[in-house]
Amino acid sequence: MSTDDGEDFSPRRDGPPPIRISRRTLLLGIGALAVSGAAGYWLTEGQPSTPGTSFTTPLRVPPLLESEIIDGERVFRLAAQSGETELIPGTRFSTMGFNGTYLGPTIRATRGERVRMHVTNELSMPTTAHWHGMILPATQDGTPHQSIKPSETWSAAWQINQPATTLWYHPHPHGQTELQVSRGMAGMFIIDDDSSAALPSNYGVDDIPLIIQDVAVSPGGSPGTATAAPIGRIGNSVIINGTHQPRLEASTSLVRLRILNASAARCYNLELSTQEAFHLVGTDGGHLPSPESLTQLLLSPAERAEILVQLSPGADLVLRSTPHDLGMSHGDNIASGAEDTLDILRITGPNVPVSGVVPDALGSAELPRMADVTTERHFTLGNTTINGKSMDMSRIDTVISANATEMWTISNSSNRAHNFHIHGTQFAVSSRNGRTPEVQNRGLKDTVLISRGDTVELIVPFSSFADSSTPYMYHCHLLWHEDQGMMAQYVLTDDEHPPEPSPDDQHDHH
Ligand code: C2O
Ligand code: CU
Ligand code: CU
Repeated sequence: MSTDDGEDFSPRRDGPPPIRISRRTLLLGIGALAVSGAAGYWLTEGQPSTPGTSFTTPLRVPPLLESEIIDGERVFRLAAQSGETELIPGTRFSTMGFNGTYLGPTIRATRGERVRMHVTNELSMPTTAHWHGMILPATQDGTPHQSIKPSETWSAAWQINQPATTLWYHPHPHGQTELQVSRGMAGMFIIDDDSSAALPSNYGVDDIPLIIQDVAVSPGGSPGTATAAPIGRIGNSVIINGTHQPRLEASTSLVRLRILNASAARCYNLELSTQEAFHLVGTDGGHLPSPESLTQLLLSPAERAEILVQLSPGADLVLRSTPHDLGMSHGDNIASGAEDTLDILRITGPNVPVSGVVPDALGSAELPRMADVTTERHFTLGNTTINGKSMDMSRIDTVISANATEMWTISNSSNRAHNFHIHGTQFAVSSRNGRTPEVQNRGLKDTVLISRGDTVELIVPFSSFADSSTPYMYHCHLLWHEDQGMMAQYVLTDDEHPPEPSPDDQHDHH
């Protein structure tokens, strides 16, 4: 079997294990003695001692994917590839990516544009390219129904018609999504419109993508095996845009971070080491009416958040993930990484203030309205099932009228934490356990965390792309659960595209 078919992360180690104590840490220690009592911010009493403050590797920024305009369409080309990547200095991992061996370039397009994607599969196994969070016809969505065989090219085209936001793309092959995504097949898909002018938008300078994945590393620094947890496989080290222990040397005092949790299972409870507030400006599907000040932000796999971080002169801080509660038993929370503290990114700021104020108002994305709801549905999450069923590619679980707005009530009655993602829409979370949802879930969303015992109500607007034969998916985005079959399918119908008889009905009639 070739390297991309293996079950585990089985990287080869070349060279010595990474040295954990950097030179700067040592110098810092000596400095602390020499200048004790001085007001150096990094010597402040009570600040947690953490490797994050010594991160030195410049943060990689995924390149923007080039495009060309052909017949009025913006045309992009992607190739699914595999290989080995030195994700940690001295340690090579078997990885997969788009246009490279790990992650993929950032795709950027403007609302209103027609785009065309050519995706070539250079892997030795089938893959797909799914545009997560995009509102588009089901035939273009890159689900298991649009499988790309090795050495084939698949093309998708649609018109972008949704607000400025940070989406992403990743494979969705039947039963193999965890393998391919956790090895690195993930990239950002940024949509621009003219409403986000108030936000920093110089890509890679003050508008920074952060794609967070976790990998397993053994105590000696060699590659390890991810821990099997109730929510999927958990790595013990984080890699940001392919960078281990990254440092972002900001040249401006206001930095916009587009954060994507591209991990298979791990959730991140993000905060700043200074405990300062940051400003949430966007959720999965668009911007908020105005920035919301937060000190913590919990992101489950596939969720995105856009935040602004205001850096005071000479700032040196760490974005980190801290313990959180996934609602499971104590042991299951621990196994699922919920009690870990992980340093993600060191951010240093300029010594003097450089441009940028947090805007008062943003061009906000319109939320679907309760008044438009015509149909209500209920879904119950089991350990790996939705309404007691496991994914069947030939079964349509839900038939929905094109253009309808529906209320979906989703209850997690299982022993595990889950999240819930619906393709082809951006929804509003109207309540969690009967109460107003937390700030981070008040904008447009396509994925929402549903901890054990929780019930969420979603107002889901469906598009006009009626197609009774090609389904969209909805599923848990903890990828091991998804691969286990925690996924179902819906079709959009209208008068010209009436529901098709189910396979069982066909047997009855023929
Ligand atoms: Cu991120 Cu079904 O997808
Ligand atoms: Cu999706
Ligand atoms: Cu799940």
